Amino acid sequence: MIVMEGGGGPNATTKAARSDTMLSPRFYTTDFAAMDRLNVDLVRSEWNTMIGELRADYNKAHFRRADPFDFDLNKLPEELRAEFVDFLVSSLTAEFSGCVLYAEIKKQIKNPDIQELFGYMSRDESRHAGFINEALKEIGIGVDLSFLTRIKKYTYFKPKFIFYATYLSEKIGYARYIAIYRQLERHPERLFHPIFRWFERWCNDEFRHGEAFALLMRADPSLLAGRNKLWIKFFLLAVFATMYVRDHMRPAFHKAIGLDPTDYDFKVFRITSEISQQVFPLVLDLDHPAFRSGLDRLWRIAEASAAEKSRGGIMSRIKRVRLGIAGAATFARLLLLPAKRNVLPHRVTLAPAW
Ligand SMILES: [Fe+2]
Ligand SMILES: [Fe+2]
Repeated sequence: MIVMEGGGGPNATTKAARSDTMLSPRFYTTDFAAMDRLNVDLVRSEWNTMIGELRADYNKAHFRRADPFDFDLNKLPEELRAEFVDFLVSSLTAEFSGCVLYAEIKKQIKNPDIQELFGYMSRDESRHAGFINEALKEIGIGVDLSFLTRIKKYTYFKPKFIFYATYLSEKIGYARYIAIYRQLERHPERLFHPIFRWFERWCNDEFRHGEAFALLMRADPSLLAGRNKLWIKFFLLAVFATMYVRDHMRPAFHKAIGLDPTDYDFKVFRITSEISQQVFPLVLDLDHPAFRSGLDRLWRIAEASAAEKSRGGIMSRIKRVRLGIAGAATFARLLLLPAKRNVLPHRVTLAPAW
């Protein structure tokens, strides 16, 4: 079903999903010929186990729903309403971005290992995106996904950058969903939408996708050595900082589920850092005092920039350029903080333990 406004243009949630700001989830394209040349022989036995799990499709029935959700958006306080919709739309865009990229990789290549993997992962992401979109459609604000694939800008990333970024977003996706699920399991009175009940088994899909990217990277050790270590540090910081800023811009949502955004984000960073030791030769020092204060500064800068944007006018534009420079300098300082070295374990694959 295509959800349109009366005038025939895309509706507000589709426009929100389409936006290409620093903080919004992006769509990606890559070098398909290089993807076709990947060889996973170095991690063959773990690969076969991982593919076996994806083939078994444990969540096949999990995203099927007979009845609509019992939920009335208008019963939520106004701020929470906006932030919850923003949470759903950005989650949907991230899920759908994975779906589009994985499906395109599957379509463009012939390598049977890689093709099978990306087929299963796009299957899962398509279910996830569809499930969120159904929830949005039920409250009259579904996103037009086919419109989105045509109109959204695609960012080109070499395969190694796809691996660093997507590995992190899969593992962070896992950590975010499980942290919210566990919180609402402890505080069922805070469960204001039934969709959160789906998060436990859902996050296991994301966990497995992360495992697949870990194996792809461990299959080519050059991706985890030399200058690439700097890229890994860059991606860790970029992904963590984006999440921190975004989450802090949703105070009402976090208050409703009873989580302080800083505590929640650091919990997600810790889970992700611990997991990422399966593949990354370094982890960020989350306890360095300048790390937290740098992230806070990035958030304040992003907030000030958003306020200037809504004000409009030439002076606001100049101020936003200045804020952009301050943001870049803050990010660069964070990047210069020392990271902790990590010796890779013998085995790559993990069992979810959170
Ligand atoms: Fe997903
Ligand atoms: Fe995923």
